[in-house]
Amino acid sequence: MIVSIASDHAGYPLRRDVADYLSKQGHTVIEGGATSADVPYSYVLAGQKVSRDVLEGQAERGIVICGTGIGISMVANKFPGIRCALCTNEFMARMCRQHNDANVLSMGARVIGKGVAFGIVDAFMTEPFDGGRHMTRVNDMKEQEKELFK
Ligand code: RB5
Repeated sequence: MIVSIASDHAGYPLRRDVADYLSKQGHTVIEGGATSADVPYSYVLAGQKVSRDVLEGQAERGIVICGTGIGISMVANKFPGIRCALCTNEFMARMCRQHNDANVLSMGARVIGKGVAFGIVDAFMTEPFDGGRHMTRVNDMKEQEKELFK
């Protein structure tokens, strides 16, 4: 799969770990955002980059990382068509795929460690969308976007 991943400075070390982890699994990784943990970089820019990559079809999935995962998930969710899920455990990551068809995952580097993050990423990358009644709700979200952004 092609995955776009970006972070601010706070998310930089975890982002590098996750990018390497995904590359080793054979995914194509587009990496953006901060170039170091020491130079401040806005989570807004990083969230915009991943959202655009997903919406423009450059990437099939997106992963955004900041200190808490909160700010960057807010940015991503302001893009119509992005369904970004902030996950702190594997269960949430499974559910965001099964029920919400999330196309972007958000994580907080100051909240979870590398091991938990890898479990979350595995679930996000592999869990299918359940469809059925969940499809109706996802379609309702899309209708809401059309209504609000027309
Ligand atoms: C950066 O200090 C921090 O504000 C940012 O990484 C994030 O947690 C914002 O939501």
